[in-house]
Amino acid sequence: MTHYMTRYSGNRGLWLSFLAAILISAIYAVVVFFTRAIPPAGALFGHLLGIVGFILMLMTEILYSIRKRSRSARWGSMASWLQFHIFTGLVGPFMVLLHSSWKFNGLAGATTLLTILIVISGFIGRYIYTQIPRSLEGVEIETTAGQSQASGLARARRLLAIWHIIHIPIGMALFVAAFIHIGAALYYATLLK
Ligand code: HEM
Ligand code: HEM
Repeated sequence: MTHYMTRYSGNRGLWLSFLAAILISAIYAVVVFFTRAIPPAGALFGHLLGIVGFILMLMTEILYSIRKRSRSARWGSMASWLQFHIFTGLVGPFMVLLHSSWKFNGLAGATTLLTILIVISGFIGRYIYTQIPRSLEGVEIETTAGQSQASGLARARRLLAIWHIIHIPIGMALFVAAFIHIGAALYYATLLK
């Protein structure tokens, strides 16, 4: 093992999301305490949770992909962008879950289900991703290490490729459903009031 070689093991994204979730839960609890009700999805606080959570989810979908594909980019390492991907990919769905007001009817319920699925799939992908050695930058390293490690690596790469084929369409289905929900919710619940 050479010193510049590392296995991706950053937990910063996870820890920061955990802290953010506690903070958001505390605010949610204060609102429940003072209003003596579960915040409705279409009222001020619930709406805000939905909108901010959704923006974080959109950032999750878009930013990492852009950074991954830009060759000339110097802003931030791939590893940091993945940490940020995980942060927004957990905090956004958490806020959206609180936005639901714990009712999961129809399309909005299906959107929530897709949101939960992509988070679970994200954890699985993160696990496979950690099996592949990368530089501190987060870029994959070609190893010349022993035969068994090389074949394990090939397997992890193949698994990650298959995983992409699942994770990405869930994301697309999710955003199609979310945009229809948002359009319908704004039309029926907000504008017609
Ligand atoms: C992925 C993102 C989102 C998910 C998973 C989601 C999910 C939900 C769920 C489960 C409900 C409760 C439905 C029910 O009563 O059974 C709901 C209600 C609602 N959502 Fe969302 N939501 C998301 C984003 C948004 C955004 C961004 C907005 C606003 C721009 C929004 C506006 C509303 C409104 C106004 C309601 C209340 C509808 C009513 O009172 O009938 N949602 N949402
Ligand atoms: C709203 C939630 C999420 C959305 C919409 C989302 C979307 C995506 C997309 C579109 C990609 C493909 C990037 C590319 O190859 O261009 C991706 C990759 C990835 N995501 Fe997520 N994701 C979410 C949550 C998560 C979570 C919670 C985790 C981890 C706990 C995670 C871990 C990963 C990993 C490890 C990759 C692969 C990175 C790579 O191969 O370079 N994602 N995600």
